[in-house]
Amino acid sequence: MRIDKFIANLWYGSRRQVWEYIKNEYIKVNGETIYEKDYEIHFWDVVSIWDTVIEYKEYIYVLLNKPVWYISSKKSEWWHPSYLELLENCPYAQIIDIVGRLDFDTSGFLLLTNDGSLTHKIISPKKDIFKKYSVVWENNISQKDIEKLESGVKIDDTISKPAKVEIIDKNKIYLSISEGRFHQIKKMFESIGNTVIELKRVSIGWLTLWELNVWEWKYLSDEEIKKLFE
Ligand code: URA
Repeated sequence: MRIDKFIANLWYGSRRQVWEYIKNEYIKVNGETIYEKDYEIHFWDVVSIWDTVIEYKEYIYVLLNKPVWYISSKKSEWWHPSYLELLENCPYAQIIDIVGRLDFDTSGFLLLTNDGSLTHKIISPKKDIFKKYSVVWENNISQKDIEKLESGVKIDDTISKPAKVEIIDKNKIYLSISEGRFHQIKKMFESIGNTVIELKRVSIGWLTLWELNVWEWKYLSDEEIKKLFE
């Protein structure tokens, strides 16, 4: 791939801007300053811009522990910042997309990638990949309500797919669902006459959040990526 295309794709600017960086000697390949905008790079080359190394990778997989208040959209809204602000030091942030959005008042696990096959595998309800949420709610909940959540409740005129419930204490459960409908868990609780007051996604499939603090992100390891595809 041409160096100007590679860097522009990573959103360091337009190809014209990249040309400016090249003229200013900001860009190096394998430690050598390059002067041609059509310089061909390969996956074994080490590209750096302002001495920050950008690895050439076809697919990128990032895990972010989102705090509440950030929105799952690339554009900030007037008082809600975009999740992109949490990925400021990730050179690939603009070319990866969220696999299963979270509401601004939901915290937890955001998986981001440019690999469409993984996205499909994770979000397709047919693949039965469960996403686990810790849920805190407002009013008392009965055993019957728990059973309803597990077997399926009516949301948006259709019945939710069977879910799994693990009781943590009297107003907190883990709820695992294999779908990702808009406001799904809040609507499931509405349908049993209750209100969610705290929601956090703690795992996607076998991937859990334990090693990442809130606000932090990391690249998935090769081992983790492989297991997600199994
Ligand atoms: N269900 C919701 O209601 N909101 C989320 O952000 C995720 C699941």
